[in-house]
Amino acid sequence: MNTTNPFAQGCAFIDGGFVPAGEARIPVLDYGFLRSDATYDVVHVWNGAFFRLEDHLDRFLRNVGRLRMTLPMDRAALRTTAIACIEKSGLREAYVWMICTRGRPAPGSRDPRRCENRLIVMAVPYVPYADDEQRRRGLNVVIAKTVRRIPPESVDPTIKNLHWLDLEMALFEAYDRGAENAVLLDASDHVTEGPGFNVFCVENGVVLTPDRGGLDGITRRTTIELCAELGIPCRVEPIAKDRFLAADEIFFTTSAGGVLPVTRIEGRILGNGAPGPVTARLGERYHAWHREGRHATPVRY
Ligand SMILES: Cc1ncc(COP(=O)(O)O)c(C=O)c1O
Repeated sequence: MNTTNPFAQGCAFIDGGFVPAGEARIPVLDYGFLRSDATYDVVHVWNGAFFRLEDHLDRFLRNVGRLRMTLPMDRAALRTTAIACIEKSGLREAYVWMICTRGRPAPGSRDPRRCENRLIVMAVPYVPYADDEQRRRGLNVVIAKTVRRIPPESVDPTIKNLHWLDLEMALFEAYDRGAENAVLLDASDHVTEGPGFNVFCVENGVVLTPDRGGLDGITRRTTIELCAELGIPCRVEPIAKDRFLAADEIFFTTSAGGVLPVTRIEGRILGNGAPGPVTARLGERYHAWHREGRHATPVRY
């Protein structure tokens, strides 16, 4: 471990300066904290290169605009700041968070239009969503019974947000039921997504992912593109719970680990209990894209 670099455990850009990530602070009066009034994005860095940085910037900037916020810098400066956080940290496997909070209202005001929005960019060490053993054997998951995903009509899940209580409580339910993770349904019993990932299933050789109710994940998009490259049919459409449970294969997608196989759902063992063949092919190609430098923005350390 590098003991001389103060940013070795992460580097944050906040209120115009760089600090070690562990020292970055926001005031408790920031509406981002008090009201979850914020949007964010997380891009991963693999082997010293960002993956799909421009797509993450597109999504973040679009969502900042949709929440009627403004950043203190333009896209080019944001890109430079994200890269600078990695350069300073020296991290070769990392996440870079970009967060825009509403900020504090002007003194004597409660008007969110009068808040000065706050930008935080931070590089932190990569912690995989699933460990090697979980990736090898596949995840054991449930469909949450005690909580549903927040309806898109209330909080739009395509605006990446910090309204995580439904996701978090579903995770607790999964642990209580002896599982490792949970998929959330919407009010009409269709699958949506889970805490930090999009969901897919494979039915008779066709890859399916829900058309609504979840984030437009960058890894989801990559997976749809991988299907096209590999000649695997892929459809984006509503998936009812019973259909999902009867699928041949299930997998999750996230920037925090790529394509994650599921081999047990609601106690049912999928296939022969090992990650399915379509899931495995997609997972391999996902890694190949990284090795080949597809969508890569290399960092000069
Ligand atoms: C709720 C939710 N859904 C899906 C995803 C996956 O999105 P991406 O592939 O862009 O990481 C995330 C990522 O953190 C998430 O928080």
